[in-house]
Amino acid sequence: MSRTILITGASSSFGQELISRLPNDVKIIAQSRSPLPKINDDDPRIIDIISDFSNPDFLTDFDGKVNFAEIDEVVHFAASPMRMQNFVASTSQQLLADYQTNFLSAVSLLTKVVATRKQNPRQIRVVLMLTDMIGSPKKGETSYITSKFALLGLIKSLSKEYSGNELRINAVSPSFVETKYVEHFPEFLRKDIENKHPMKRHCTISEVVDSVEFLLSTKSSFINGQNISINGGEN
Ligand SMILES: NC(=O)c1ccc[n+]([C@@H]2O[C@H](COP(=O)([O-])OP(=O)(O)OC[C@H]3O[C@@H](n4cnc5c(N)ncnc54)[C@H](OP(=O)(O)O)[C@@H]3O)[C@@H](O)[C@H]2O)c1
Repeated sequence: MSRTILITGASSSFGQELISRLPNDVKIIAQSRSPLPKINDDDPRIIDIISDFSNPDFLTDFDGKVNFAEIDEVVHFAASPMRMQNFVASTSQQLLADYQTNFLSAVSLLTKVVATRKQNPRQIRVVLMLTDMIGSPKKGETSYITSKFALLGLIKSLSKEYSGNELRINAVSPSFVETKYVEHFPEFLRKDIENKHPMKRHCTISEVVDSVEFLLSTKSSFINGQNISINGGEN
């Protein structure tokens, strides 16, 4: 195998698109909360890990299945769905569960991967998924937005703590994308977002994964600690 990539939220539309683009000689550790789609069943490249990141002990799901020392790349797509809930109505348990799923899971996984550099020195490349909404949050998304800001803090901090030769960590921040998650949004809302966009369309899954691939590749070898907006000039 040429390299090993850990993809969280591998069942998401972004995860599936990235998996479909990876060459045959890449080993893929694919985490999702529910089983991966049937299309991934007989894929010899994939080690699938079913794990619920809202559980603080989620790392036990990786025990005996994953050698963190062989991981070269981490792409963190996993996130809880947006809550659309007033700040006062959301409970601290919900907030903690979202932090755990969206942010602390990435911290736990990266701690494990980066610690293995002592036994296997290599450049580790990381891409985290933020959202363009951090620039102009919508009402009712406090836990989603603050957990994404925490991820932004993580890329800024780790890119200072480690040189780009050891760890290259960046993020992408897309605007609204037609993924399976937003399928249940009312048609009028999706159309409204589209009509208000300067390009009169949504960002595509493919456009997001293009940037993820770029940030993992040597074409971005001097880019570190950056959050790339993929918003078509919206904000
Ligand atoms: N769609 C957009 O407009 C948009 C825009 C900007 C950023 N994003 C970001 O893109 C990423 C993927 O979002 P998406 O739109 O593709 O939504 P999605 O289909 O709901 O994907 C979310 C992924 O996270 C996983 N996940 C959710 N809760 C989890 C938990 N408790 N433990 C472990 N995994 C969990 C899901 O796994 P299961 O499928 O197994 O539940 C799924 O793979 C997220 O980080 C989101 O914030 C999306």
